[in-house]
This record gives sequence, structure tokens and C-alpha cells, in this order.
Amino acid sequence: MNVKVNFNGTLVEDARLSVFDHGFLFGDSVYEVVSTHRGRPCFLPEHLRRLRQSAEGIHLDLPFEDSWLKNELGRTLEAGGFPESYIRIVVTRGEGEIDIDPSSCGRPNVLIYVTAPKGYPLEYYEKGINVAMVSVKRNWRESLNPGIKTGNYLNNVLAKMEANRMGAQDAMMLNVSGCLTECTTSNLFWVREGSVFTPSLSCGILAGITRDAVIKLAGENGFPMEEGEWPAEILDKAQEVFLTGTIKKIMPVTRLDGKPVGDGRTGPVTRRLMRLYDDLLNRFYGSEPS
Ligand code: PDD
Repeated sequence: MNVKVNFNGTLVEDARLSVFDHGFLFGDSVYEVVSTHRGRPCFLPEHLRRLRQSAEGIHLDLPFEDSWLKNELGRTLEAGGFPESYIRIVVTRGEGEIDIDPSSCGRPNVLIYVTAPKGYPLEYYEKGINVAMVSVKRNWRESLNPGIKTGNYLNNVLAKMEANRMGAQDAMMLNVSGCLTECTTSNLFWVREGSVFTPSLSCGILAGITRDAVIKLAGENGFPMEEGEWPAEILDKAQEVFLTGTIKKIMPVTRLDGKPVGDGRTGPVTRRLMRLYDDLLNRFYGSEPS
């Protein structure tokens, strides 16, 4: 695997995290995934803001200023030298005793991974994917708030495994009240009669940065947009469904549990938003390689 790793400010060839790090022992960490466009990190201020909010959410003091992280990220991107990069920033609770209590932990460990993005097959964007409604429920907000991007992703891992068993490309999860939430690494949208709908943050979801951008784009381009709490059956009436995320961007869903959504093809509103999102990235990050 060709991955550059920056470990606490040092570029290391063979990075090793302690077996006593609570990030490893208890999933006690926070993280962000950032993509690049024309080689430049997208929405970096938004990702750094969310990283800080996540750290606050688990009472973890980040041991750096944003300027330090930006600088280290720049160095790591340069060392990677990929035309486009997948960036993962992880901050763990640090090394401590083999005890759930984090008070024995020393300094948090800060890791920046840079590698070539794996991406998704073009076919997924043209024909859409199949998403399964899984039995695994999204973590309840009062248990482990999905709005905090922690490294504790077992909830989503189990959902993804269930989707794999069902022959689907991703899993859609309900919350414990039976309302739609999100997929394993993306937010959910659907379209009906030209209006765009998405579960509200109160359902227990990550406040996706792509989700935010799409909500703004929909508003600016005359698509009525509604956020709310809805049961799964609402999707029976959806004409289009799509997912949003840093890596996926906007991905059409043309089958739910193997059954076609609308006419089973990527719909016009999804296509329009996909185009608008690409335009936005080109506008913000330049349409020529930097
Ligand atoms: N995941 N919901 C969940 C559970 C996520 O993990 C993600 C992002 C999103 C979309 O958020 P954003 O638009 O800010 O990427 C929604 C990243 C990509 C990941 O963990 O790989």
C-alpha cells in the first residue's frame, strides 16, 4: 500500500501506533476524511472545524493549532505526490493503561494519512447503486452521537457487513425510533415531485460537509428542500435517491433492497445536483491542475 503517514509531525516510512493507545483499545479517537480536487484539499476549514467539534464532543484537547495541522498536511501531500489524494486525519486519546478510564492517557497521537483515492467505479455514477435497509440501527444520539465523528465505527462496520451479505453496495440505517438516518459513510437524500428531502440532524446523523453543500446548492438552484424525520416507507414514493460524502460526492441510488427507485435510472434532479457540485469544486479549487 502506497501511503504516506505523518505521525505527530514526522513523516515516517513504517508508522507504528502503541498497542496501549486508547484509540486502538477502545475506539477512543476522532477523525476526518478530506479529498482533494486538482490536488487541493477540499473544504479544509470545514473539516478542521468539525474535527475540533468532534474532539470537544469526546472531551479531548487537540494538541495543535490549525495552522500546524495545515502545514503538516501540506508536507504530507507533497511527500505523497499523488495527483489526487485521500487524506485521513486521526487524533487518538493516546497511550494509557489497559483501562477504559482515559485519565491515564498521555498526549494524543496525531496521524495524517495520504494515499491515492480508491474511488468508485464510474458505473456507480452512471447506473446508480443498490442500497440495503439493514437491521443494524444507527447509534442513538444519547448513546454515541453520530454527529461526533469518532473512530468508533463498529456500528457502521456491522451495517456494511450486513449490506455485503445482501449483495448491496451500501447500507441504509434507521434510528431506534424507526426514522431514516444515513448510510455507513454518507448522508441520504431523496427527491419527490421536484423537491429534495433529507433526514434532519435530530435523527442522529453526521452533519456532512457534502450534505451542507448540497442543501445550499439545492436552495440556490430553485429546488425546494426539506429536512425532517421520516420512516423508511417514505422512500416507497421517492422518484430519486442519492447519497453524499467527501469521497462519494453525489452518488445515485437506483435500487433499494434490489427494487428499482422510480424508473430505476439516475434521475434528472440527481444529475443536475451532480453537475452543480462538480461546478462548485471547479469554481473553488480551480479547473486546472495547480
Ligand atoms: N465519511 N455520514 C457518515 C456516517 C460518514 O462517515 C460520512 C463521511 C458522512 C458524509 O460526511 P462528509 O460529507 O462530511 O464526508 C455521513 C467519510 C468520508 C469516511 O468516514 O470515510
